[in-house]
This record gives sequence, structure tokens and C-alpha cells, in this order.
Amino acid sequence: MSKIIAIVNQKGGVGKTITALNISAGLAKVGMKVLAIDLDPQGNLSDYLGYVPDGKPTISEVIFQEVSGVRTDSFDFIRRNSEEKIDYIPANKLLAGMVSILGSDNDSQEVIKRILSREPFTSYDYIILDCKPSLDLLVCNALATSNSLVIPVQAELFSYNAVAEVMQTIAKMKSSANPDLNIAGILVTMFRKQTSLSNEVLEALNESYPGLVFDNQISFLSEAGKSTCTHSSLINLKGSRIGQEYLSVVEQLIAKDGANNG
Ligand SMILES: Nc1ncnc2c1ncn2[C@@H]1O[C@H](COP(=O)(O)OP(=O)(O)O)[C@@H](O)[C@H]1O
Ligand SMILES: [Mg+2]
Repeated sequence: MSKIIAIVNQKGGVGKTITALNISAGLAKVGMKVLAIDLDPQGNLSDYLGYVPDGKPTISEVIFQEVSGVRTDSFDFIRRNSEEKIDYIPANKLLAGMVSILGSDNDSQEVIKRILSREPFTSYDYIILDCKPSLDLLVCNALATSNSLVIPVQAELFSYNAVAEVMQTIAKMKSSANPDLNIAGILVTMFRKQTSLSNEVLEALNESYPGLVFDNQISFLSEAGKSTCTHSSLINLKGSRIGQEYLSVVEQLIAKDGANNG
């Protein structure tokens, strides 16, 4: 069975997509078979992975087929990025319309769960879901199917306040659709070690959510912006500090999975 990890925070610009990309690439680097799914109509993860519209199905068509009960045997919605050594399913603006399609399903929160419980999805070691900045039905589908969550939090005060809201939604999900949902960790992103604000946010998170904050942070560095332009992960960029930091996060994720299984 695959481990499904969703990257969630209803706030935009906190580093979800860059985290989804680098965790996916990092898991692949240590030998895991990885599928990354773009669950944001903005399609940022798809851009990062070099997706160009090719007429083949995206995640929207996969969802539509599931809800309408018309399935095909073709898996041509899965693309490969051979540099990062990961498979992925892209998203585009069509995905915005899928929230109402999901709503028409009898089990509207569990559509993605049904999809991921079959081949070819079950053959992956890890499936990473890059969520849109929302807590709508699409994101609830991601929460309902995930084994665990990574919550990126930008090291600034306003982001810190958003975590409480994510935690409430997670608690609701645990008491209903997904009692086994784990929080893999809160990941402090765009961290500036020299500023007191960054350190205060880190301290406040550790105090409010003891044991849930990853051991290391992701530094605020210009190499993150460059990675957006070059369409590549930092994991596979030689000498990248952020790449090393994400690798450390990947090691912690795998260690936690081992602990949960044992
Ligand atoms: N560690 C970092 N240092 C500097 N800039 C970053 C860092 N992480 C992300 N960014 C920048 O912040 C912006 C938002 O990141 P992104 O991953 O797209 O967030 P989200 O998916 O939550 O909207 C991007 O322009 C990205 O380049
Ligand atoms: Mg994003």
C-alpha cells in the first residue's frame, strides 16, 4: 500500500508547492517510487515539473470519470519527470470546476480516496498531494485519503494564526472520514534565522504543538526563486542548502512512517 501525504495550508504563498516538489524528489532520491498529484487549479506544481498541455487527461478528468462512473483502462494521465525521477498528474484551471462535480457524488469527501485505492496508484511507495490554498471539498478529499499531512508555515505571524484553523479541520476529519489521519509535521518555511520574528514564530509553534514541528526549518534563500525559473527541484541542485534541508525533512518523514508501522 502506498503512503499518501498531503501538503496543506489554506493560506497561499507559504511554500506548499515547493515543499511538495522537494519532498517528492527527495523520496525518489532515496529510492522510493513516487507519484506527485497537483491538486491546485493554479497548476504550479505541474509547471515546476515541466508540464505543457498535451491533450491528455489531467487530474480533473480522473475525478470526473470517477464521479460519473465512466472509467477507462488507460493510465495516460500519469506523466514522468525523469530528471526528478517522479511520476506526476498535472492540474489546470479545469480543476476549479471539479469542486461542484465532487459535491454531486454520494460520498463527496471520498472520491479521491476511491481513485487512489486502485491500480496503478497502489503500486507507489509514496503519493504526494499538493493542495490548493483552501479547505474546500477538494482539500477535504485530500485529507480524507491521506495517511499523514505536512503543514508548511511561513515564518511570519499571520501564517502562525492560520495553523489553528487547519488543526480544527484536521480534528473534524479525524472524528469523521479519516480517524487514522496523522500529522507528519509542521514545517517552518522561509525561515530567517537572524530575525526575531522567525524565531518567535518557531517558538510559538513548538509551544502550541509540541512534538509536531519538524526538527529543522527551511531557510529563506533566493535559490528557491531560481528553482521556480529553472523548473527543477532543489534536491537535485548541487550545493543547494534548501535541498539539504528538504532531504532532512524526508528522512524524518520516513523515520516517522517506520515508527507508525511498528
Ligand atoms: N525557502 C524559501 N525561500 C525563499 N522563497 C521561497 C521559499 N519557499 C518558497 N519561496 C517562494 O515563495 C513563493 C510561494 O511558494 P509556493 O511553494 O508556491 O507556496 P504555496 O504553494 O503555498 O502557494 C514562491 O515564489 C517561492 O519561490
Ligand atoms: Mg501552491
